[in-house]
Amino acid sequence: MHVNGQSQAEVETNFSGTLGLGDFVVGERKDPLAPPAGFMEWRRKEIAWAASLYEPDMLGAADARTTIQYEGKPKPVINLCSYNYLGLANHPEVIAAATEALHKYGVGACGSPMLSGMTDLHRQLERTMADFLGREDAMLFNSGFGGALGTISGLLRKNDVATLDNRSHLSLRDGAVLSRCRLDRFEHNDPASLDAALSRRQGRSRLVIIEGIYSMEGDFARMEDLIRVAESHQASIFIDEAHSMLACGENGRGAAEIFGVEDRIPLVYGTFSKAFGALGGFVAGARSTIDYLRLYAHSYAYSCALPPVVVGAILKVLEVATREPQRRERLWENASYFRSQLNGLGIDTGESATYIMPLVVGDRDRMCRLGHELRRRGLWVAPVDYPAVPEDRICFRACVTADHTRADLDEALNIVSDTFAPAELQHASV
Ligand SMILES: Cc1ncc(COP(=O)(O)O)c(C=O)c1O
Repeated sequence: MHVNGQSQAEVETNFSGTLGLGDFVVGERKDPLAPPAGFMEWRRKEIAWAASLYEPDMLGAADARTTIQYEGKPKPVINLCSYNYLGLANHPEVIAAATEALHKYGVGACGSPMLSGMTDLHRQLERTMADFLGREDAMLFNSGFGGALGTISGLLRKNDVATLDNRSHLSLRDGAVLSRCRLDRFEHNDPASLDAALSRRQGRSRLVIIEGIYSMEGDFARMEDLIRVAESHQASIFIDEAHSMLACGENGRGAAEIFGVEDRIPLVYGTFSKAFGALGGFVAGARSTIDYLRLYAHSYAYSCALPPVVVGAILKVLEVATREPQRRERLWENASYFRSQLNGLGIDTGESATYIMPLVVGDRDRMCRLGHELRRRGLWVAPVDYPAVPEDRICFRACVTADHTRADLDEALNIVSDTFAPAELQHASV
């Protein structure tokens, strides 16, 4: 393997794993376009080996098995890296619906929804999502990230308080930063910590922000407890159901459906990039909230609407997922089988209770060595480094889908077992 002109031996020797992304955020420099001193050297030499695990080229669809480019060649892999939880991204009916929309409307919406990019298909999806979730209204965003960012920054003002779980997705935190509101954090999933945070801001207008499933840990929010605390402080609640929408609950209405708390959460947000297998975001709630947001969420009002071809696909995905609840059942069966087998191998999957599971490694150097070995053996899992997770929780993240067969999962488990144990020994003897 050659990375940035270095041989395999060179890249492995140069890899120190001591510096991380966090080390280049601050630093004196005259030109904002020039990275801080040492960055390019670090990027080229020190982490070239680790970096080659990221941004892999996929050579096919995000199916249970796919092909990626690895070490300069196509590499068939078992795919535990995609969010295609229900296996609908490549469903023939979805592709047919997308093709129909493509032929009728062309590729792009060619305008912001406010001015010119809203087709009847967009309106239909808004209405369908609102009805599906039992809300008065819903609005669409051209990205999930933009939806969270626009919603939080569009609703909160300088004197308000955003109270976020400290494992919240960056899109939520960035939305709060953009709004210039007060940003408070509470310890992950800890009702006592939320209570303390809300108590410190009594009398202020507060929004408690939680996620259905936390995207790195794969655990559910402790909804009942957190909501009870928020209610006791008369704080409003917002839920990000990015990873849970369509894949959780009897009808697919997310983690809030599982826990029976939908009517206690006035505003729900989700993405179309995970179980929907497409792209975009939405927020659904009271008509007054959505009416207001349409004017104040900048990522909505000042950005091109979703391509109609994507909207056509999403509508079909919702129809198929509703018609075939067995997809959700398969997903959950696969998730609990895979997790229990991993735990049987002695792999730490943290607090995961879902189809997202960390395989905790705990240090960057080891993660990098294991990551390459897994890939060479044909298993594709995502390396997750600090600051996405705390440094002592550096891990691989595996996402199981409904389309993985038992044979896929068993082969993946064999690869994990063959890789983790010998690499451990090798690491210990270095
Ligand atoms: C919890 C959460 N919210 C929001 C987003 C942003 O969604 P998208 O990838 O659709 O932009 C993500 C993305 O992974 C996420 O995990």
